[in-house]
Amino acid sequence: MSTSRVISSGGSAGETGGRILRYTLSERVHHWLASFSYVYCLITGLAFWSPYMYWLATLVGGAPTARFWHPWLGMGFAISTFWMYKMWRGDMLTTDADRRWSKAMKYYIENEDEKLPPVGRFNYGQKLYFWLMFYGVILLVISGLGLWFVESIPWSLRWLRYTAVTVHVVAALATIGGFIIHVYMGTAMVRGGFTSIIRGEVTATWARTHHRLWYEQVVRRSSAEKFNPPSIRNDA
Ligand code: HEM
Repeated sequence: MSTSRVISSGGSAGETGGRILRYTLSERVHHWLASFSYVYCLITGLAFWSPYMYWLATLVGGAPTARFWHPWLGMGFAISTFWMYKMWRGDMLTTDADRRWSKAMKYYIENEDEKLPPVGRFNYGQKLYFWLMFYGVILLVISGLGLWFVESIPWSLRWLRYTAVTVHVVAALATIGGFIIHVYMGTAMVRGGFTSIIRGEVTATWARTHHRLWYEQVVRRSSAEKFNPPSIRNDA
């Protein structure tokens, strides 16, 4: 559920000088908890996966330390991702605007945003990434529990052990692909996005350029509250 609002309007809400709250403190904290735990699992997981990447374990205190913390940080990643699901599931549903946007996605890739149809708080690509991480983490947790407590799986059911290894690796590789695109888009491609996930706010111009429908919704809600503040509203 979006809690975004106009923070300062630099004149009237929606003018170029105005700033809009894009991510609340709670959203930012959970995002960075997920990021930290995911990057830890990524480094340690790659170290376990291939001898060529075993050296990565030395970056995080050596292989035994990595083996101890990997499943715990994996649980941390799952909890923070489920928390994001609780906060954002309403904003992440596919809309007709997303379907129109997805047909014009080539303009997004070619950095010609002015040719894209307007979208809400998140664009279709961001939504796909969210669902990839959400379903990815479910598979990672289930298969990860199988690997964590592998000795509890009897030898007669060893196909479960093999399935757990395969599912864990495939889900990890899929999330890594999405993660690389996400970090690239958020830091290098869409200027202003990174500041928003650190400080929480964006300029009105940024909101209008990248998420027009969301911008219009925030401005509408903000003007409604100005004329009908929650403290004096009679909602009964
Ligand atoms: C160090 C790594 C990461 C960086 C630099 C990063 C960067 C960002 C940025 C800049 C945004 C704001 C984008 C915008 O509002 O336009 C964002 C949003 C978001 N991040 Fe991350 N992120 C990282 C890791 C993760 C991880 C591990 C997850 C896994 C669940 C994640 C999930 C999301 C989601 C779902 C959003 C909202 C939708 C979106 O922008 O895709 N991020 N991130």
